[in-house]
Amino acid sequence: MHTSPLLLSLLLPTLTNSHLFDSCSGAPSTPTDANPKIYLLRADQSSEISQDDLFTASAYAGLLSRDPSSPQLAVIQKDADLAWFASPSDGTPSGSWQVKSVSSLEEILTNIPCSGCGYALAELRSNSTTAAINYAAGTEASLVATDSNKDLLEQHGVQMAIDLTEVAALDPEWALNSGLEFSDRVSVLQTPSSFVALSDLAVKCRALTWWGVNGDCKEAAIAPKALSLLDPADGDAVVIGWGGGDDPEWGCVHAASAYGAAGVIAADWALNLAALGNLPAAASQADARGVEEKEEEPTGKHTVSFLMSDGDNVQWLLNDWSFTEDNWWNSPDRGSVPLGWTLSPSLAALAPTALAQIYGSKTDNDQFLAGPSGAVYSFPNDIPEEVAGKNAEETAYWMKAAGHSVVNVIADSDGVGGGTPDTMKWLLGEDQVESVFLYDFNGYAGLEGEIDFVGGKPVIGGRFSLWSPDFYDVQGLADALMGLENLEDGGSSDGYSLIPVHAWSHSVSDVLAVAQLLEQDGRFDVVLPDELVRRVNAFVKQ
Ligand SMILES: *[C@@H]1O[C@H](CO)[C@@H](O)[C@H](O)[C@H]1NC(C)=O
Repeated sequence: MHTSPLLLSLLLPTLTNSHLFDSCSGAPSTPTDANPKIYLLRADQSSEISQDDLFTASAYAGLLSRDPSSPQLAVIQKDADLAWFASPSDGTPSGSWQVKSVSSLEEILTNIPCSGCGYALAELRSNSTTAAINYAAGTEASLVATDSNKDLLEQHGVQMAIDLTEVAALDPEWALNSGLEFSDRVSVLQTPSSFVALSDLAVKCRALTWWGVNGDCKEAAIAPKALSLLDPADGDAVVIGWGGGDDPEWGCVHAASAYGAAGVIAADWALNLAALGNLPAAASQADARGVEEKEEEPTGKHTVSFLMSDGDNVQWLLNDWSFTEDNWWNSPDRGSVPLGWTLSPSLAALAPTALAQIYGSKTDNDQFLAGPSGAVYSFPNDIPEEVAGKNAEETAYWMKAAGHSVVNVIADSDGVGGGTPDTMKWLLGEDQVESVFLYDFNGYAGLEGEIDFVGGKPVIGGRFSLWSPDFYDVQGLADALMGLENLEDGGSSDGYSLIPVHAWSHSVSDVLAVAQLLEQDGRFDVVLPDELVRRVNAFVKQ
């Protein structure tokens, strides 16, 4: 039987090291030995299901998922949620796991009784919502409930364990002072107003859930205390979620990286990660590309490679990126132009079926790169030296699982060395990492196309960002490239351009439009990232 590299790597026993999300449940089950039954709560078909019931179902999904061989539970709100439970081969929910649709919390409790369980009573959207999730995360057999569904739970033998509405004026630090114990590997960022996405994962991983001030996790009083629960020594401590608010990006990622965690996975709208992480990737394939023999001399043209941004954003990958919008993976123009895509290797741990389906729909003109900035979104140059090696190892481990050989790094311009190429030495010390595509946080093209070699491997800086209105639009980018000096010199960095594509302002069609303008000019070759790396290695003098 053919065992795919991805599946194999997920099955390998972890002898000495633990890896991202290993701590959340037993080893992933295999298609042959587990055959898990998955109950899908179809909120897409029934408008009867209340937010309160979804809150309860999500926590129950987490509790069930602690044991991958027990029935699993997932909440389906839209087509995309359903898709990831489909068998990769035929697109229908079947294959190595059985799915059963249910349409109410009552049906769930009837099919899967929660024996010996209690519940934490909360008021939806108040701070007690998070307190209840934390109670369920920090105990062995707790659900969550509100006034609207507690009677139903009691009819099914689940009694109240704690009333958290009493403490309506609830301190966000309640859970920390409650005597409950939380994971030292996973920390969840989620606001009390959002309680379906990630509640399952928090309960599964026994993770503390907390939130920032106006979204900025570094500003909240709880932030240092929450982070200090994590043990970064193995490189697999991770924050998952997002701070909400206006622009928490730098603060959250900086705080987690500087603490030594692997980083932050944007996933505050990602549903069902608890169940998805337990699904075997039945027909996965690593994104391996054969090394082809190519011409030995520079082509005499300027080599351009485009890289779509924001693939670290797991909730986007699971929602709009692949399904709802036409700008990205769902674009009718995808495949018409060579294009690199950033993709979080953590998807191999979080949702292996999604990774397998994405790979299954790849064209020859798509290539995946890890990041930013590794297994997880971090600023590698903010990670303390003592754990930088372990974090790089963890990135390499997941890059191997996901078949990535190049990592796109966003460096913190205010961090160690300003994020200069030499700060990439930890990542480049890993055999799996053949090259770093290096961006600065503010605009991605601060290195202006500079190429450096660190430990003999190329660090390629972004040249011009296709990013509007801050930087270049389609015509502006084409003009800027055509105006480069010495652009056909394949023997120096002058002959190469890595183009960051800002996903929130530009689409696959825009990349195609730039490529067409370059084609008309005649002096350019648009290639996949690995061909860019090959040419740089072959022709640029170190
Ligand atoms: C809920 O948490 C916020 C912090 O986000 C805090 O400012 C607020 O006082 C808390 N609410 C109550 C009622 O204690």
